[in-house]
Amino acid sequence: MKYTELVRPEILKQPVYEPGKPIEYVAREYGLDPDNILKLASNENPLGASPLGIEAAHSALAQSHLYPDGGCYALRHKLAERFSLQPEQFVIGNGSNEIMVLLCHALLRPGDEAVMGAQSFIAFKLSVLLAGATPVEVPMPDMRHDLEAMADAVTEKTRMVYLPSPNNPTGDTHSQEAIECLIERLPDNVVFLFDEAYAEYLEVAPDLRPLIEKGHKVVCCRTFSKIYGLAAFRLGYAYGSAELMGLLNRIRQPFNVNAIGQAAALAALDDKDHVARSRKVNQQGQAQLTELFKRLGLDFVPSEANFLLLRVRNGKDAFEVLQKHGIIVRPLGGYGLSDWVRVTVGTELENARLGQCLEQIAQGPEAPVFFHQTTAQ
Ligand SMILES: Cc1ncc(COP(=O)(O)O)c(C=O)c1O
Repeated sequence: MKYTELVRPEILKQPVYEPGKPIEYVAREYGLDPDNILKLASNENPLGASPLGIEAAHSALAQSHLYPDGGCYALRHKLAERFSLQPEQFVIGNGSNEIMVLLCHALLRPGDEAVMGAQSFIAFKLSVLLAGATPVEVPMPDMRHDLEAMADAVTEKTRMVYLPSPNNPTGDTHSQEAIECLIERLPDNVVFLFDEAYAEYLEVAPDLRPLIEKGHKVVCCRTFSKIYGLAAFRLGYAYGSAELMGLLNRIRQPFNVNAIGQAAALAALDDKDHVARSRKVNQQGQAQLTELFKRLGLDFVPSEANFLLLRVRNGKDAFEVLQKHGIIVRPLGGYGLSDWVRVTVGTELENARLGQCLEQIAQGPEAPVFFHQTTAQ
């Protein structure tokens, strides 16, 4: 008997998440120097990790023979203080992605529905499918979640509604008022997942704690992978009602978050300087890329997060061409956005290199992959 006959049927239908290729792989494939490759593909922090986080991680290595604190006691207490919530209202995960998967395992049964935007962060759909439930994808006109249409899509089968703000990859954000209106419309048996992976980049982020306090079924997810620059450690967290967090704590692995990452995250939370610099470099980078794309006559969607969308003729081809030039961006065919690529905002130098590369491409034979009217003509 084949293993494919042994596994749960939904596993055979499960789409595979395609992460960007590692720098070393691209270097080998294209005969490039790995040190010269610029990765603008995964919305990582171009300034690197929080220096305080790295220092703490180094110190924690000496205790590598010990199991980590399975309850993430210190981190939950620190976050509780930061958010003026109780430590029991937090769960820490191996990336916020793990928590999203746990939520689906906990809340969804086959036949249940989960409402999300058609170009919402793809991990939502993948985790819903993995739980055997049905993603209900609501169209996103103008690359924005249509909150009214999402509320209208809720049926008696709906158990979850997803909203990331800013969303990856479209970058759309939504006001406190609009989000509250959506939540107010949800029945009591629907959990609202608010994904705040890029919240620290915003001047003012929506605050759903009052709704949690009032008893709405709201859970918020955040990550250390973005502004804190700790993506390699895999660390995210959720906050919400102590009841739901307690249930998630039951089903997670006992030691799901490693000790080195916990130490790094604790220190990174205090690294105000790194957070402030990262936010500033990102704002300047958004302005720099905006100016560049306008100058080149390229259509684009800026965002307050650390990435933007760039319209090209063919996303996959544009990705290949840039990769040959040593720049990795993200094609978005998986999101149904086949004529767009997502570009992570880099440092000033990195953004300038992308600019030079695009200018060079505009003059050459590969121009039609990017430009509707080539400057070479
Ligand atoms: C919107 C959004 N949510 C969540 C995540 C996942 O973060 P983590 O690294 O904590 O799993 C990402 C990562 O790209 C993201 O873009």
